[in-house]
Amino acid sequence: MQNFAAWALVALLPYVQAQVPAYGQCGGSGWSGSTSCTNGYYCTSQNIYYSQCVPGNAATTTTSVSTSKTSTTLTTTTSAVQSTSRTTTSTGATCTGTFSAISASDYVAKLHPGWNLGNTLDAVPDEGSWNNAPVVASTFQTAKDAGFKGVRIPVTWAYHFTGSSPDWTVDPEWLQRVSDVIDMATSIGLYTIVNVHHDSWIWADITASDANITMIEEKFSRLWYQIGTKLACKSSLVSFEAINEAPCDDASDGEEINKLNKIFLQAINDAGGFNSKRVVNLVGGGEDSIKTSQWFEAPSGFSNPYAIQFHYYSPYDFIFSAWGKTIWGSDSDKSALSTDFQLLRNNFTDVPIILGEYDASPTNTEPAARWKYVDQLVRSTSDLNYALVLWDNGLDHLDRDAKTWRDPNSISMITKSTSDTSNSLPDSTEDKSATSQSSSAYIFHQHGTTVTDQSLPFVFNGNTLSSIADSTGSKLTSGTDYSVSGSNIIFKASYLSKHFSDSTSPGVIADLTLTFSGGDSSPIVQLVEWTTPTLSSKTAVASAVSGSDLSIPITWGGLKTVAAVKAVTSGGQYLVDDFTQWFGPLQEGRATYSSQYNWDTSNVILTSSAISSVISAGITTVFTFEFYPRDNGAVNAVNFTLTV
Ligand SMILES: *[C@@H]1O[C@H](CO)[C@@H](O)[C@H](O)[C@H]1NC(C)=O
Ligand SMILES: *[C@@H]1O[C@H](CO)[C@@H](O)[C@H](O)[C@H]1NC(C)=O
Ligand SMILES: *[C@@H]1O[C@H](CO)[C@@H](O)[C@H](O)[C@H]1NC(C)=O
Repeated sequence: MQNFAAWALVALLPYVQAQVPAYGQCGGSGWSGSTSCTNGYYCTSQNIYYSQCVPGNAATTTTSVSTSKTSTTLTTTTSAVQSTSRTTTSTGATCTGTFSAISASDYVAKLHPGWNLGNTLDAVPDEGSWNNAPVVASTFQTAKDAGFKGVRIPVTWAYHFTGSSPDWTVDPEWLQRVSDVIDMATSIGLYTIVNVHHDSWIWADITASDANITMIEEKFSRLWYQIGTKLACKSSLVSFEAINEAPCDDASDGEEINKLNKIFLQAINDAGGFNSKRVVNLVGGGEDSIKTSQWFEAPSGFSNPYAIQFHYYSPYDFIFSAWGKTIWGSDSDKSALSTDFQLLRNNFTDVPIILGEYDASPTNTEPAARWKYVDQLVRSTSDLNYALVLWDNGLDHLDRDAKTWRDPNSISMITKSTSDTSNSLPDSTEDKSATSQSSSAYIFHQHGTTVTDQSLPFVFNGNTLSSIADSTGSKLTSGTDYSVSGSNIIFKASYLSKHFSDSTSPGVIADLTLTFSGGDSSPIVQLVEWTTPTLSSKTAVASAVSGSDLSIPITWGGLKTVAAVKAVTSGGQYLVDDFTQWFGPLQEGRATYSSQYNWDTSNVILTSSAISSVISAGITTVFTFEFYPRDNGAVNAVNFTLTV
């Protein structure tokens, strides 16, 4: 029966796409292939970069199934904890050696700053399935060398069970692999969090309409008993996090997540060893600060020192490049960020808190705005004693093969700054009513125009400029190549002419590293020669290209990124998210990165979802791709028209 809705939907599509095999990629940033999975699998978003075909059916279940959730919840609320402690009759693991017990607040202090080994042991179905190769020990050393003290190792267990109910046996080889990876981190002194990660939506989603809560509790308990047994004798550097971002819609889900925390504690304590003294991370709904504040209750009857872990990706539109939001840093932006963290602290005055995931990624956020964000986030959480653990999916920050950081300035502030630090930063447009966006993270020169002095505003924050060096390490001469006047750094035409001329090809021409007398910020300012990009085609018929993403070859004209995309119908309406009309000139009518548009090294991409929107609106739509520097579509933008 559950298949019926899915097949009916397929039948309505104009034609059937090629089907992605089991565990294949079916979407995500840059994906232009099929989004439809082979029978018995459905396409689900793992993150903005990757969607994958996983077993089962999408949550389009029928009414008869959805009724099972509530009834099961109500009738099985107490059995799992008790039955688990009964079935795990052994006295638990016995360890040789000693355990240097540590308080949760000391643990949190020492974990900071932390880094996430994202999209690795949490990849589905297996380590190596996503964009990262299996982890090697030197990756942890690279993180440590950069100044990180802790690491969170997300682990997805879903496809490593070799047994089913009631034992839910986990593949011993996988337990061994997880144990070995933990040792790679702890052997160099990194504080290490290990968890149950994407299981939260694969089999442990308590909000799913067909969730069998008894099964989830049983499996969760058995899983943590086996993890707890395998890792029982690990040192106090290792802490356990109950579950990653457990879906949670309401107070009763919040209560069930409190219960999962309790089942987790019971299971690891039953497993013995040092687990009764081990620091644990307990969680609220979705590891969301608001739901955690509303519904989290610490379980009683356990002696484990505990911290609360939460995640923060706010404001959503800036972090995920939704609705043309490429600007951040006004006073109200900053105070909103600080207030969020302060409010959570007010609600948990005595509890150590771990911010286990946050990330303004260099892959999609504008650098001057990003550095302001990182500076504010790091400094405003510092006095609140939050441990920060940066999310990194392998495409964001650390290039694990090259062992280089894609945005060293963010890493420097994250690993060093405290509330007392005064960082000097490139200034940028902060005003939502602006019709263009400036950024001192770049020196832009429009191809074919005269090279003139360029005056870039900086937020010096009490420091003075010490030096400017190019990527060979050679220093620019103060007074000749540049000068400082008030809060501006003026790059002289005579210097810029060495890089920019009529014969310069568009692109990034040079990287200049600025250092200041104080603070941890050494921003890289890029010299960019730009001209308006061109597309190989300007129009397509929506119905002829529907069903998959449309890649349009582009000749880039400067930075090889799309800043924003505006989608306006020939009737003058915004194609999607009409509410953006209230968001200011650079955001109105703008679509969302990854949902509606994308790009790769040689194409801009309209997603199949954007194409479907045109087909269902039934009206020709102009997509305006905008680039940096943003000028609201005036010059540095190209149009692509989807006709109906
Ligand atoms: C729910 O899970 C329990 C434990 O695995 C199992 O005994 C029971 O049959 C399941 N109920 C349904 C409706 O599948
Ligand atoms: C903390 O509690 C207050 C009410 O006491 C609530 O308004 C606020 O949103 C909570 N903080 C967070 C981060 O949710
Ligand atoms: C794109 O199309 C819109 C609407 O037709 C027009 O106003 C705008 O000038 C065009 N922009 C470019 C860069 O061609």
